[in-house]
Amino acid sequence: MPHERSGAFAPGRVNLIGEHTDYNRGLALPFAIGEGVTVHTRARDPDSAADRILAHARDLDETDEFDLAAPPPAPGWRAFVRGTVAELAHAGYPLRGAHVDIAGDVPLGGGLSSSAALEVALCLALIRLGADTDDETGSELDRTKLAQLCARVEHRWVGARTGLLDQLASLYGRRDAASLIDFATLRIEHVPLRLGSWRLAVADSGERHVHASSPYNQRRAECQRASELLGVASLREAEVQQLENLPEPLRARARHVLSENERVLAAAEALRSGDLLALGALLNRSHASLRDCYEVSTAAVERTVRDMQEAGAVGARMIGGGFGGYVLGLFAPSIPLPDALREVRPGGGAHLLGA
Ligand code: GLA
Repeated sequence: MPHERSGAFAPGRVNLIGEHTDYNRGLALPFAIGEGVTVHTRARDPDSAADRILAHARDLDETDEFDLAAPPPAPGWRAFVRGTVAELAHAGYPLRGAHVDIAGDVPLGGGLSSSAALEVALCLALIRLGADTDDETGSELDRTKLAQLCARVEHRWVGARTGLLDQLASLYGRRDAASLIDFATLRIEHVPLRLGSWRLAVADSGERHVHASSPYNQRRAECQRASELLGVASLREAEVQQLENLPEPLRARARHVLSENERVLAAAEALRSGDLLALGALLNRSHASLRDCYEVSTAAVERTVRDMQEAGAVGARMIGGGFGGYVLGLFAPSIPLPDALREVRPGGGAHLLGA
């Protein structure tokens, strides 16, 4: 019997370290957070508009209606909904016309992966609604394939050439752990995030980004060009000595990627040995590299990083693609968290809800 209703929750993420490495077959260490996007669906009456989606974005109080068979392109949040439906259909998932209710508590365009949370929650809920048996529910799905499907939504429908970081972090999140992702093999190792009385917190720089129109795609193209010039399939295969041969700014971009991969390994080691001071120093170094070599910071982000350090953070850095958004800081137990900061903790991964 098909389901008449379905519900799913997908978390946003904080990337502890490993920025702009995913599309370079590198390493990253994100964790899913408690905040995310919730999607509820209800099958449409077979006698009326049975093959159409009617979506309501509760936080914006906006709606969208389109045919399941051929969603036309659209800007804004509608691109994610239409794109997810189209890519699911293209991948062969049986879909049904539905009322789709969307609500979230991850700030939009803030570097906490609101987009991936939306795509992933939609996927789980729509697949469940279209499935005939419980075998095709979220828990049995190939989550890595689903992350790749969501990336196609970003590439084809949104115009952002993003990697798999956000979707894998949302799909594979675990309470009390960070996910060490190797983007060359897509293998994930969970590293316990034991903070004791230390805290991780984010602060809003006040600036918002849209990766489709920020220089994000340009950075990705620069890394591609650097790989071609070095004669390697990706920057993961490049050796640090080779970088001397690259012209600027490609040399600086590649230097960031190679050194960031090293920092991810060092951060995982720092977590394993409970050396949170070492983790803090790595966050600072990651930020400096993103600012100076990768050039994805802004004046507002720099101010927010400085404020965090002045408030006593042992490490602070921008998170996500850059050009605005949130900043992450690590605070020792004795330091009071300023009011403007929001504490973040690792939460579980995307899952189905009782409808
Ligand atoms: C955005 C993208 C990710 C990743 C980060 C930078 O969040 O969606 O794929 O590239 O930027 O690490």
